[in-house]
Amino acid sequence: MAERKRVGNIDVIICEDEIEAAKESANIFAEAIRQKPNLVLGLATGGTPVSMYKELIKMNKEGELDFFHASTFNLDEYVGLSPEHDQSYRYFMNTNLFDHVNIDKSKTYVLDGLTKDIDRTCREYEDFIKKQGGIDVQLLGIGANGHIAFNEPGSSKDSRTREVVLTEKTIKDNSRFFEDESQVPRKALTMGIATIMEARKIVLLATGSNKKDAVKKALQEASSLEVPASFLKEHDDCIFVLDKDAAGGL
Ligand code: PGA
Repeated sequence: MAERKRVGNIDVIICEDEIEAAKESANIFAEAIRQKPNLVLGLATGGTPVSMYKELIKMNKEGELDFFHASTFNLDEYVGLSPEHDQSYRYFMNTNLFDHVNIDKSKTYVLDGLTKDIDRTCREYEDFIKKQGGIDVQLLGIGANGHIAFNEPGSSKDSRTREVVLTEKTIKDNSRFFEDESQVPRKALTMGIATIMEARKIVLLATGSNKKDAVKKALQEASSLEVPASFLKEHDDCIFVLDKDAAGGL
């Protein structure tokens, strides 16, 4: 049974394990979609959300959840990877969620990692989010270095969608998905911290003991540029869904 508590301004759900965390977070999204079928979802990639997406797929297949009217915006994309590249985030979203549910793919937005005009692509992404009415519920992971999306330590609270250079830590962490570290793109396009903070609701999902220091700093230390996730304390509807390992430092 998950334990619920409040840490400062943030609701924290501490689950027994990754499976329970996946179910808890999937339920939050499913409930939001049921209440507002044309929900605008903010989605994340990486190892952590895969189990949550599996739960959402199961609900969709069992007729408990309808994605047809929903639209989605992803947090980030690697610069230089095509949508067909098996490590691009567009490919990740297709294979881990979109291909398996009744979502209208023309309403799923991922930044274009091959754009020739980065400023314009980023500006249009921001405009498009606004045109859709803003993001209703944003899913986030957290990097072991405290990053959210690809907003690495040092990212400004006012940052918007832009190109960023990845830190060595992130490149190393993400190299597990590539043949070797040299294959990991060095740059990415990412929503900014200000973009993320405009979402009406934020759900941060973190599992595993390698996240516990970042989670603890985000929740218990003062907001600082060094830990981008620490700014989430300033959001008035933010939930952290953790497994026991990620919550180990609390
Ligand atoms: P992970 O990445 O889910 O692969 O650990 C999370 C993140 O870097 O935000």
